[in-house]
Amino acid sequence: MRNVLVTGATGFLGQEVSQRLMRMGYRVVGLTRSVRDNLAVIPMVGDLLVDAPFVGPDLPFEAVIHCAGHHPGETNQVEPLHEEGTRRIVDEAMRRGIRRFIYISAMGASFQAPTRFQRSKWVGEQIVVNAGLDYTILRPHLMFGQGSRTFQRLEEAASRPWAVLPESKPLIQPVYVGDVAEIALRSLWLDRTVGQIYDIGGPQSMNLEDVVRHIARDIHLFRLLTVRIPKRYAYYVLHKLGRVGPILTGEEWEFLQHEVTRQDSRWLIDYGILPHSLAIYYSPLT
Ligand SMILES: NC(=O)c1ccc[n+]([C@@H]2O[C@H](COP(=O)([O-])OP(=O)(O)OC[C@H]3O[C@@H](n4cnc5c(N)ncnc54)[C@H](OP(=O)(O)O)[C@@H]3O)[C@@H](O)[C@H]2O)c1
Repeated sequence: MRNVLVTGATGFLGQEVSQRLMRMGYRVVGLTRSVRDNLAVIPMVGDLLVDAPFVGPDLPFEAVIHCAGHHPGETNQVEPLHEEGTRRIVDEAMRRGIRRFIYISAMGASFQAPTRFQRSKWVGEQIVVNAGLDYTILRPHLMFGQGSRTFQRLEEAASRPWAVLPESKPLIQPVYVGDVAEIALRSLWLDRTVGQIYDIGGPQSMNLEDVVRHIARDIHLFRLLTVRIPKRYAYYVLHKLGRVGPILTGEEWEFLQHEVTRQDSRWLIDYGILPHSLAIYYSPLT
């Protein structure tokens, strides 16, 4: 039995990764802060924000897939988990003699990125790269699929005949969570991906309003009426009055204000994946 340690195994991406690994016959040990009844993976209990041992089975792990991190727009306090948390799991991997390390970063990660989210992801990347591990770094854009809290809110908004949308021109490249999970697990046996950093964006670039319109096509077959909050008031409205619609948190909206689209086709070739598009995912089944 091949054993893989997945952090964030209870999260949106981590669950998808774990389920796919288990279907392929891997034994998945998932790092989590609390054991729940419905946990599908073998638990290893630990908090990446606390210097404490991780309590779980002492198995010879083949690799770590480090998915634990903040959902974009969830909070602005991202550094502890993305930086210190990554250092702790890297130390744990080295202590256990695990060499293969897949790190889930984010599109636009850079030391001069406009958001704290992306800058903290870049610091996490540096910790992984400088540890001398056999790493692969994946930088997904906003992920869609069942279980995304952001897309749940967008779906709610799109299920009404009207929506209040903050004006948002920057383009985003939503990518299917299953594609990112597939890339993460294929990295385990594709040696050419060692030492690589991939920008993982979906096949379509679109602004927020287009995203909601694509979603609405599935739920309503009539035109979505939108009231647009001008950009200069959007921050105030979303922050002070909470979610509007409900559609986005203030942090999510801020996150989407910074356009980072990338055309990195290397992952399509290296992993042999035909990515799912948002338009097809949300298209009516008739
Ligand atoms: N979702 C996106 O659109 C998106 C886009 C770009 C990058 N990313 C990155 O992709 C990764 C997965 O995102 P996601 O959307 O799946 O996140 P998520 O659903 O919020 O899941 C977060 C996971 O992290 C774990 N976690 C949080 N704090 C922890 C701590 N202190 N110690 C140990 N584990 C902790 C949680 O586990 P427990 O609660 O069980 O402890 C949970 O399983 C993250 O690194 C995120 O930054 C996501």
